Amino acid sequence: MVETSSAAEMWEAWVGSAYAKVDKNGFLGYLPKICLPRPNADEDPLAELETFDGPGPWDRTSLEIEVEDSQTLRTADGEPVRKKMLLFSGNDYLNLSSHPAVCRASAKAALAYGMGPRSSALVSGQTEYHRQLEILLAEMHQKKACIVAPTGFAANTAFFSTLGGVATHNAASKKLVAPQEKIAVFSDALNHASIIDGLCLMERHQQAVVYVYRHSDMAHLDEILSSCDLEKKVVITDSLFSMEGDFAPILELVQLREKHRFLLVVDEAHTAFVCGRNGGGICEVYRIQNQIDVIVGTLSKAGGCLGGFIACSEKWSNLIRCVGRSYIFTTASPLPIIAAAYTAAMVARKEGWRRQAVWNRVHEFVALTNHPATSPIVSLVVGDENAAILASKHMLEKGFHVTAIRPPAVSPDACRLRVTLTAAHTKEDLRGLVTALDQCIPGLVPQVDRVPARL
Ligand SMILES: Cc1ncc(COP(=O)(O)O)c(C=O)c1O
Repeated sequence: MVETSSAAEMWEAWVGSAYAKVDKNGFLGYLPKICLPRPNADEDPLAELETFDGPGPWDRTSLEIEVEDSQTLRTADGEPVRKKMLLFSGNDYLNLSSHPAVCRASAKAALAYGMGPRSSALVSGQTEYHRQLEILLAEMHQKKACIVAPTGFAANTAFFSTLGGVATHNAASKKLVAPQEKIAVFSDALNHASIIDGLCLMERHQQAVVYVYRHSDMAHLDEILSSCDLEKKVVITDSLFSMEGDFAPILELVQLREKHRFLLVVDEAHTAFVCGRNGGGICEVYRIQNQIDVIVGTLSKAGGCLGGFIACSEKWSNLIRCVGRSYIFTTASPLPIIAAAYTAAMVARKEGWRRQAVWNRVHEFVALTNHPATSPIVSLVVGDENAAILASKHMLEKGFHVTAIRPPAVSPDACRLRVTLTAAHTKEDLRGLVTALDQCIPGLVPQVDRVPARL
């Protein structure tokens, strides 16, 4: 057993000793970062950051879509007829995917560097642009280091394969982790599939014992933590549950962390950029970033781009770079994506009105309905799969792109419509949406004619 005081220190020691065994030859220190040719000022993808005080026409680009209308006849050329729709099903909460600065950064990076070096980050895929994005995200989450992975899914599985490495490389026998050397991982019942798959891999390699606690049930978590005598304990939760739209009881988790001395890992996939003054997620809102050991997130939702990240200590980041399988055995993100994500993170920080706007939409939705939504993810459970498909068809017919959420994303009896609100939706959009929803979800609005003309 490692003789240190706090759980955080114990974990740092375990991670450090695993890293010392993995990187015996100091490979990471030797590996040079790739520096691309310096562009002229006007070609530099990150040189200018144009921000705005309010929405522009570009904000509607990803909302006002067209879909193929399979119900109607084809055009004279045999092409399917297109139908206009308003999107209420994406995760681009701040509408950054079409922000002029983000588009420009991506286009400039493509013109200057093409897709960039194509290989795994550990071979030649990591450039100083990747590094700059990692530094920015680490700072945003008040951590010493950060790893950028190709997707949020890859970020979670990379973290769990690294956690598995902590068990393996601290075990007395490299071949088999003894039962008392395993890591006990406590996971919320509604955590994202990427967490579940990461945990399955750890179980498969006999590195972990996984305990699933009832959704957000802190009494249950407390109880199973109390009865677990494994030394290495980890709790993992989504910060905002992607299908339910409810927040994890983060302050209670922090209290339990004090009591049970576990490593606390929070997946801020749906809250990064959306919550907190600087977009640092719910951990920033509650100013508890120093009590959360590892923060996972994605650049694919409110970041409007693609990619995932793990904000953590330097020891963790070193180990992830060596053993995080979905980080090392896959090609690093292309440069236009990295430049766009860096710019999106900067814009999200500077254009605070976007965050205000998306929360205004949530309040407006609540005012228009009886629904107690607390986040931009509004989960409307309708019943079985057929009921959800019927409701979604109705919404599509009315011109609202709201899709049915079915197994395996949710249980068969809790199929639903998942409505997502963004900064660029208007009050008028919401009024139309709610009227259409009320026609397929009875009782959503007490009496339609009571929907106020003005909010
Ligand atoms: C909580 C959570 N974590 C991770 C992911 C995966 O992120 P990405 O889409 O970037 O792979 C998602 C995506 O739905 C998610 O909801």
